[in-house]
Amino acid sequence: MGSYEPVLLKNRGVEGSCTLKVHRAGGGYAGAEKALKLSSDEVIEEVKKANLRGRGGAGFPAGVKWSFLPKDREKTILCVNGDESEPPTFSNRVLMESDPHMLIEGIIIAAYATRSQVAYVYLRVEFHEQFHILQLAIDEAYAAGLLGKDVLGSGFDLDVYVHRGAGAYVCGEETGLIESLEGKRGWPRIKPPFPAVEGAFGLPTVVNNVETLANLPHIMTRGADWFQSIGAGSSTGPKLFCLSGPVNRPGCFEGAMDMTCEELIYGDDYGRGMVDDVGVKAVFPGGISMGVLTGDELGMKMDFDDPRNFGLLGLGTAAAVVVDVETDMRDVLLNVSRFYSHESCGQCTQCREGTSWMYRIASRIAMGAGRIEDLDLLEQVSGRMGMMPGYSICGLPDGAAFPIRGLVQKFRTEYEEHMGRQRDGRAEAVLRVLN
Ligand SMILES: Cc1cc2nc3c(=O)[nH]c(=O)nc-3n(C[C@H](O)[C@H](O)[C@H](O)COP(=O)(O)O)c2cc1C
Ligand code: SF4
Repeated sequence: MGSYEPVLLKNRGVEGSCTLKVHRAGGGYAGAEKALKLSSDEVIEEVKKANLRGRGGAGFPAGVKWSFLPKDREKTILCVNGDESEPPTFSNRVLMESDPHMLIEGIIIAAYATRSQVAYVYLRVEFHEQFHILQLAIDEAYAAGLLGKDVLGSGFDLDVYVHRGAGAYVCGEETGLIESLEGKRGWPRIKPPFPAVEGAFGLPTVVNNVETLANLPHIMTRGADWFQSIGAGSSTGPKLFCLSGPVNRPGCFEGAMDMTCEELIYGDDYGRGMVDDVGVKAVFPGGISMGVLTGDELGMKMDFDDPRNFGLLGLGTAAAVVVDVETDMRDVLLNVSRFYSHESCGQCTQCREGTSWMYRIASRIAMGAGRIEDLDLLEQVSGRMGMMPGYSICGLPDGAAFPIRGLVQKFRTEYEEHMGRQRDGRAEAVLRVLN
């Protein structure tokens, strides 16, 4: 991968990469050993100095989040978010199946820093193979004294359990995850109280993403300055990027956050361009929830800050899906709106009704029966249902609003051109989906 030396994916493709033997041969668990010799506060300080920003979507600094835990707490719970339901995101999956011990080592470091003696890895139900890979690695770690009582002879105890979800996007939201973990319907909670104060089983809880935790062993062994030297500004450290759509080389890649979306699609180390050199019409660069870029906006940096300059919500999961010039944007609008309408948990009226009405309007447009005023209506509805206007419990409707508003605003001319034009066989197809 050019001058970039893979860190998180260094063992991908190596024979036996899931085993303790291979992980240890590459210096594995040295980060945990180092952390366990420090105090919890010293580990937190190093992670703060590195400015490790959460990789789960919001980019919140991990060390700062850990500092919100009450000082006088007796118990803490660590939840590892492996729900990974954001389309088209699969970097957590790649990490867990190529190097599960890297995640376990990260869990040990985070648990020690936050004084958690129990960690739950919440996995989306579709990760059958990854569940078995991870469980085998956990069993191996227990047998080697890396988990359980007296981890690595440090006096610190830690138990790790894998909990499998039942398949809902909203269970990736941290309080939906906690409810589901407690055996209830995965309905996000009203905050406050925030999980740091009252989370799983009523205890102070930290929720971190799989990739966030996988960075910890490297921060401990190589130091915060090394971490800061990769990337630029406040977007530093190794990062995984997913790429899908009609590109020559779809996949999960590791790099620094100073690359542009164009480099991700066309770079030799990444996507290697479009199939048959077809043009790019649109890209959803951060999972679909962050919003959409036009083919003329590929200069956007894949970092935590630049997406906002392009009307996006943020970097999100850094999973880009490319749409080519042949694609009818009515189908894109339909697919995106269907996802959120299906995944809204229904607790909040604005989210439940808003996502469902956006889907109906998008269906009408996709059938060729749309009206010009439908575009304004979509913009209005999308502006009135999220956390940002203060109408919802969780961020799902914000994640629905950004791509839909972005599609309408950035591709309005195309939608207008199609208005009133019936599509052959399309009405039946859309009606089948709706029914
Ligand atoms: C609807 C919704 C779905 C989410 N899904 C995920 C997910 O699958 N994985 C994830 O790590 N974070 C997800 N998040 C973000 C989490 O709430 C939380 O911010 C994250 O797990 C924190 O980890 P981090 O600080 O390490 O990034 C989701 C948020 C929302 C609103
Ligand atoms: S905003 Fe939507 S998904 Fe989130 S709790 Fe409310 S209804 Fe459920």
